[in-house]
This record gives sequence, C-alpha cells and structure tokens, in this order.
Amino acid sequence: MKIGFIGLGIMGSRMAANLQKHGYSLVVFNRTRAKAEPLLGPCGTFSDSPAKLAEQVHVLFTMLAHPDAVEEAALGRNGFLSHLERNALWVDCSSVNPSFSQRGSFCRRAGDRLRSRGRGSEAHLLGRR
Ligand SMILES: NC(=O)c1ccc[n+]([C@@H]2O[C@H](COP(=O)([O-])OP(=O)(O)OC[C@H]3O[C@@H](n4cnc5c(N)ncnc54)[C@H](OP(=O)(O)O)[C@@H]3O)[C@@H](O)[C@H]2O)c1
Repeated sequence: MKIGFIGLGIMGSRMAANLQKHGYSLVVFNRTRAKAEPLLGPCGTFSDSPAKLAEQVHVLFTMLAHPDAVEEAALGRNGFLSHLERNALWVDCSSVNPSFSQRGSFCRRAGDRLRSRGRGSEAHLLGRR
C-alpha cells in the first residue's frame, strides 16, 4: 500500500518517518522542499504538487498548520482532491476548528470530490511538541 504525506513540519515529519520505519513507502509533499529531504530515498519520493501525489497513493495524510493550508492543499491550484485514486482514503490530522470541517463551501466542494472518488476521515491529534 502506498501512502502519501502532505505537511512535514514538526508533527508530520515524525509521523511520516514512523510510517517508513514500519515498512511503508511514502510519496511526500511539503511547501518547503528541504524539510522532505530526510525522508527521501528507497522508501520516499518527493512529489511536485499535492495533485501529482494523489495520483500515486491509496491513503493520503495531511498534517498542516491551519485550515487555510488544508483548503489550499485540497482544493487550490494543484490541490489533491480532484486527483485521488478511486476508493482512496484521505486522513486529515491537522488541528482545525470544528467550524472549518463544517464550513459550508469547503464541505460542499470537498464532499463532492470525495463522493466521486474516495473517502475522508478526520483524525486530529492531541499532545504537544
Ligand atoms: N506540534 C505539536 O505538539 C502538535 C500537537 C498536536 C497537534 N498539532 C497540530 O498539528 C498540526 C501541525 O503542527 P506542527 O507542529 O507540525 O506545525 P509546523 O511544524 O508549523 O508545520 C506546519 C506544516 O504546515 C505547512 N504549512 C503552513 N502553512 C502553509 C501554507 N499556507 N501552505 C502550505 N503549507 C503550509 C508547513 O509547511 P512549511 O514547512 O513549508 O512551512 C508545515 O509542513 C497543527 O494543526 C497543530 O495545531 C501540533
């Protein structure tokens, strides 16, 4: 199973490294490419955009700083939602306020794309660095 990971900050970089440690191959994307370097090699490739990443994976994790970054990665230019493989799973681990997940326009647009392609799940994390 190929996994995609978008957002390689403090949390995302560690989560992605743990997945690799358990034998999963990753396709990764981060706005600042340099932060992806430690994950690249036999079990990690960098994708030029969230859209290209989505075409290569079965499960896609996002671990981004805030709702606007999630919206941009999902629905912006080169966003991943229109490029998910059929039956792919998107797991959003970013901390977003409840009003974001329920925000009308985001929900509607994300829901439309997910319904025709894959599934989505919210898996926000508790804890601190
Ligand atoms: N750190 C913790 O202890 C902790 C605990 C529980 C939950 N969380 C939550 O986990 C999430 C990530 O936290 P973190 O500590 O990993 O944050 P972080 O180190 O600041 O990383 C944030 C990530 O979001 C990306 N990003 C930010 N703004 C963006 C934008 N406008 N467009 C595209 N990418 C953008 C960053 O890309 P760049 O690398 O290019 O800046 C980076 O990959 C947050 O929602 C946070 O509240 C954190």
